[in-house]
Amino acid sequence: MNGRVRCAVFPVAGLGTRFLPATKTVPKEMLPVVDRPLIQYAVDEAIEAGCDTLVFVTNRYKHAVADYFDKAYELEQKLEKAGKFEALAEIRDVLPRHVRAVFVTQTEALGLGHAVLCARPVVGEQPFAVLLPDDLIWNRGAGATKQLVDLATREQASVIAVQDVPIEQTRSYGIVATRDFTGRHGEISAIVEKPRPEEAPSTLAVVGRYVLQPRIFELLERTKPGAGGEIQLTDGIAALLAEQKTLAYRFEGRRFDCGSRIGLIEATLQYALDDDGLRDATRDLMRRALADG
Ligand code: UTP
Repeated sequence: MNGRVRCAVFPVAGLGTRFLPATKTVPKEMLPVVDRPLIQYAVDEAIEAGCDTLVFVTNRYKHAVADYFDKAYELEQKLEKAGKFEALAEIRDVLPRHVRAVFVTQTEALGLGHAVLCARPVVGEQPFAVLLPDDLIWNRGAGATKQLVDLATREQASVIAVQDVPIEQTRSYGIVATRDFTGRHGEISAIVEKPRPEEAPSTLAVVGRYVLQPRIFELLERTKPGAGGEIQLTDGIAALLAEQKTLAYRFEGRRFDCGSRIGLIEATLQYALDDDGLRDATRDLMRRALADG
């Protein structure tokens, strides 16, 4: 693998139908877990992994994402005047100075594979990370993206994050078959999008973190629309693994599916219980809610 992983791609041009009506005006990635939008958690994870170019693939309805990473002059002035320096630091630190944000538009929601392809002019010929912000991954140690980047660099390979799921859930995920799975990783021999349980090659499900070689762009260019008329990233990866070493990596950490309502609720509780200022109050309210329920 040539070079370090500097670019992180955030495909955020989906419709977010599972959160309607909220997502009629608020992009799914801007939904908060406690006091930070989902996109901020993903961005922090990419920066921790060493990325300094963040590529947001958005659509014309998602101005809120670009606005969030822009400077808020008026708000900054007001907070400064009011002496609210902690809040000021919070809004100034959404992106560190050495990191640049680039926005590209996906004019039509033609699928995740197509969204990744839209980032090609910015990424060019380097390996890059892809993070789906609605998969929120909590870990006390290194973030999931850093774990993937380290393995990709060491093994000179593409790496895809996986987790074990109950067999009845395979139809909600891309599922991989692997050879020689030892410790946390193994080489992928096949990948299938949303198989029925009886057809699933394993219960190792792909979640929203990838480190990909630039060859994927060529392969996505040639990928025909698959399930749902969309250009699937899974199909591009299937072509990639036929040519290059592609690893499945069972990351360390806990993943919350914040693209679903119950996942967002679960994440909110987990992050609140992990916050010194909120833990006791959250426990109390959970006890009371359970007693009343
Ligand atoms: P999802 O399958 O979760 O779709 O996309 P969605 O539109 O975001 O949400 P629902 O299912 O309608 O509620 C997985 C990821 O791929 C991105 C989404 O933004 C999300 O991060 N995506 C999907 C795109 O950027 N473009 C697309 O055309 C499709």
